Amino acid sequence: MKDDGVRFISAATVSLEAYAAAFTSAFEGYPVQIAFTAPMLARRVRFEQHDLESSLIALEGDEAVGIAGLAIRGERGWVSGFGVVPAWRRRGLGRRLMSELLERARGYKLRRLQLEVLAGNDAAQRLYEGAGMRVTRDLLVLERAADDAPPDARRAPAPEESPAEELLRHYWRLHPEPPTWQRELPSLLAAELRGLCVGGRRRPRAYALLGHGRDGNTYLSDLAAADAEDAAAMCAALGRVDGPMRVINEPARGPYAAPLLEHGFRETMRQHEMTLEL
Ligand SMILES: CC(C)(COP(=O)(O)OP(=O)(O)OC[C@H]1O[C@@H](n2cnc3c(N)ncnc32)[C@H](O)[C@@H]1OP(=O)(O)O)[C@@H](O)C(=O)NCCC(=O)NCCS
Repeated sequence: MKDDGVRFISAATVSLEAYAAAFTSAFEGYPVQIAFTAPMLARRVRFEQHDLESSLIALEGDEAVGIAGLAIRGERGWVSGFGVVPAWRRRGLGRRLMSELLERARGYKLRRLQLEVLAGNDAAQRLYEGAGMRVTRDLLVLERAADDAPPDARRAPAPEESPAEELLRHYWRLHPEPPTWQRELPSLLAAELRGLCVGGRRRPRAYALLGHGRDGNTYLSDLAAADAEDAAAMCAALGRVDGPMRVINEPARGPYAAPLLEHGFRETMRQHEMTLEL
């Protein structure tokens, strides 16, 4: 380790307040505002399976100067957060954090590491590429304003309400393109979601699970369909549901990308999913 006074500790050895504060300062200047409190981070730990023991905080003296978070599901790891405080950027700390994180992931016998990076965040993307990660697919962040449902939406049949846990029995059949980490089954099962479907509750053609974010927005947390035609039927039915809606990290090559754009949603951001086989 370079002798610049920086040492790495496990996030499990500090309070959640201290980890949340380190997270917030490491993301300063990031295009999407990240300001975590301990309760907000606690929810993420629960929904996303953060492994606090293998997540890292870089300290200079007592001050946190960077973080590298790791979440674990089976043999897969996901980078739950990564950043260096502004005064320490471009001094090699990000690269060191990444190699330490990879060492921990290998120590846990993980087979794959994945993460998302905002398109245009070249600093982070280069750092990850330097560590051997490669872009595997693009993910869309989409929004529909309250009055953006297409004018003919009222003619589409309304979706049928169904409990989320019932619809989730069809999760595997209706995801030809795997969802991203935050929309995988363990996250969905932990959340309180409203279920809507088309094609009948017993064997739906497609379904959508809606969650209410603490920010007041409605999020489509799961969008399921065997193909684009069934996805289009679900999108048309969503035109009968009032209010603004957001979709985070919809795979660009999945069945929903085109129908969402045809039904009043617009792309507000794009992410790259990156993967490394360990
Ligand atoms: C991305 C980030 C973590 C990089 O950390 P860092 O400590 O500055 O990175 P390093 O000094 O170790 O640089 C490692 C490599 O990353 C790339 N890199 C880092 N900063 C860069 C920049 N501003 N522009 C272009 N490439 C950059 C380079 O390839 C660099 O290697 P080099 O110095 O040999 O050219 C840091 O800029 C940051 O915290 N940004 C805000 C939060 C964020 O975007 N997190 C990522 C979320 S996915």
